[in-house]
Amino acid sequence: MKTAAIIGSAGYTGQETLDRVLGHPGLSLLAAGSNTFAGQPGSVLDPRLDDSFTFVTNDEAAASGADVIFLCTGNEAAAAFQPPAGAVVIDLSGVHRLLDQTLAQRYYKLTPGAWSYGLPEISPATGPLIANPGCHATTAALALAPARGLTSKAVVDSKTGMTGAGRELKPTSHAGFVLENLSAYAVGSHRHAPEIEQTIGFPVAFVPHLLPVRRGVITTCYFEADADLRPLYESFYAGSKVVRLLPEGGIPELSRVQNTDAAEIGLFTDDATGMKIVICATDNLGKGAAGQAVQNANLALGLDETAGLRLKGVSV
Ligand SMILES: NC(=O)c1ccc[n+]([C@@H]2O[C@H](COP(=O)([O-])OP(=O)(O)OC[C@H]3O[C@@H](n4cnc5c(N)ncnc54)[C@H](OP(=O)(O)O)[C@@H]3O)[C@@H](O)[C@H]2O)c1
Repeated sequence: MKTAAIIGSAGYTGQETLDRVLGHPGLSLLAAGSNTFAGQPGSVLDPRLDDSFTFVTNDEAAASGADVIFLCTGNEAAAAFQPPAGAVVIDLSGVHRLLDQTLAQRYYKLTPGAWSYGLPEISPATGPLIANPGCHATTAALALAPARGLTSKAVVDSKTGMTGAGRELKPTSHAGFVLENLSAYAVGSHRHAPEIEQTIGFPVAFVPHLLPVRRGVITTCYFEADADLRPLYESFYAGSKVVRLLPEGGIPELSRVQNTDAAEIGLFTDDATGMKIVICATDNLGKGAAGQAVQNANLALGLDETAGLRLKGVSV
């Protein structure tokens, strides 16, 4: 068994990562750090942890000696984190994702360090310090990467559930703002746009939207291309247990991927313009965060790539 520690367990991604670690056949939980819950029993967050398990501070979890550390904090704490020597560290925040110095400075005010970006189906990580991709960026990149070489740009319309904004209450995540509403945000300037371009190799006009649902991302991409997409996408995802290419006419739905670590993709051609339309659905906390973090950890630790992931089942 490999050992795992979680930093920032009280957040949405921390709690989801804890869930994957507790259900993982090859990982055992060595420490769960939380500055909110330090000193409190594990059962305050997850009833599977009995009262003999106690949350520690994030600093104590970082020093626990675990084989893999899941860093589930906001950007500021992740930027300040010093990785312990010898550990695999999966950073779920955004701060280490942009590998270009100018872009990293512009969007995160950071100089890129020894981190590699890990989106297993497209650009697997190359070292022990792994920047886990963003939820919109993952979903858009899965939709567009097989079309590399066919087009030079795409329009990306992406919608996420409200857990995408984190557990801490903000005016824009308040029920009074979100329910029975649909709004765009960071129009034309979101930091996932350069992250998507870094992964797929061409620029996107990207507009994210906030959906009045708890979880899930659905991303619709439009681009010009002459080729038949289906054989390309079939071969790109042939070996994947995570990404499901739907049959001809199949339309991705949030409800089928919510609470899972899977992604599904549908391929279409617009009757009027001939433009290609590729739709991808994921769960922002699954493939968009904790599921992908565990997938990256599995690859880095030499475990089965999908061990501990939620890939089975369809909910309605
Ligand atoms: N949410 C998503 O869908 C998603 C997807 C991909 C990436 N990410 C990235 O992952 C990182 C963590 O995101 P998140 O959604 O997990 O953020 P979050 O829910 O706001 O949690 C962030 C941190 O705040 C503390 N915290 C959480 N809930 C709290 C509460 N009710 N009161 C006080 N403190 C609380 C936790 O640290 P302690 O346990 O130490 O107190 C936690 O690590 C971010 O950098 C985000 O950009 C998020």
